[in-house]
Amino acid sequence: MRLLPRSIHADKLESFSNFVFNNAAAVANRGRWGDFFRDQMGKSFDGRIILDVGCFDASFLIGIARKNPRSAFVGLDWKCKPLCDGAETITGMELKNVSLLRARGSDIAHIFGAGELDEVWVFHPELCAEEESHSRLLDARFLHDVHATLRDESSVFAFKTDHRDHFDWMVTRCGQHFVIAMQSNDYWNDSAALADATARLFSGELTKYERRFVKKRRPIYYVEMRKKRRSAMAAAVTTSADMAAAAEGVSSAAEGAVERSAAAEGSAE
Ligand SMILES: C[S@@+](CC[C@H](N)C(=O)[O-])C[C@H]1O[C@@H](n2cnc3c(N)ncnc32)[C@H](O)[C@@H]1O
Repeated sequence: MRLLPRSIHADKLESFSNFVFNNAAAVANRGRWGDFFRDQMGKSFDGRIILDVGCFDASFLIGIARKNPRSAFVGLDWKCKPLCDGAETITGMELKNVSLLRARGSDIAHIFGAGELDEVWVFHPELCAEEESHSRLLDARFLHDVHATLRDESSVFAFKTDHRDHFDWMVTRCGQHFVIAMQSNDYWNDSAALADATARLFSGELTKYERRFVKKRRPIYYVEMRKKRRSAMAAAVTTSADMAAAAEGVSSAAEGAVERSAAAEGSAE
């Protein structure tokens, strides 16, 4: 795992070390996240763990965690300052069911063991320019790793974006690992998608960035995926060429478009 650059906010972030894990420390609970939250939450913990990748200041996650005190929530972002803000809010609210990680989303498999997560949310990710490819979130390996860290076929991978290209990339590339349960070109104006999402804890909630996009009347694209069974995955991969292509993340037309439109983020401050 490639560490993120040291941030000037790191000391502050590390002062919340009972529930915030910075950089190398993010892997400390791999395989024992259930134990970690049981220790934090006691008997009220229902065993469910939800990860929000690219949580920014975790305000969205904190709102949902407050309303669902029996489930556990992990917010991951590579920016230190917004995570500090989130950590202060969590401390002020005395929430025991939230943990924050400063890490790369692409390191999810270093941070969580196989089957540890019940849901993974990726809402409005930015993609990296090609020179930042080591940090790029959406690629074949990430799909593989999200699949590996999800518990079973009822586990959910939820994705929202205001970028048509990113949506197309997900819809065309997720099939090896996931079954699409719902997709929408305009989530907030799609009664079927909204009705379907009532089962999800994020239903009815706008993320910080989503609020801006909706204000500008930009459609929100949505894909809800379920983890594929191993046997179904084997059937989906028909040839060794398919396997090699999937492993290497060979560019599809959609992926090329994503790469072209990607804006380098990566300041990791
Ligand atoms: C556009 S913001 C969206 C934030 C939030 N999900 C929302 O919808 O309001 C994207 C967030 O993802 C984070 N991010 C982007 N790429 C990342 C990566 N590879 N690993 C971790 N965080 C990442 C950024 O730091 C930023 O906070």
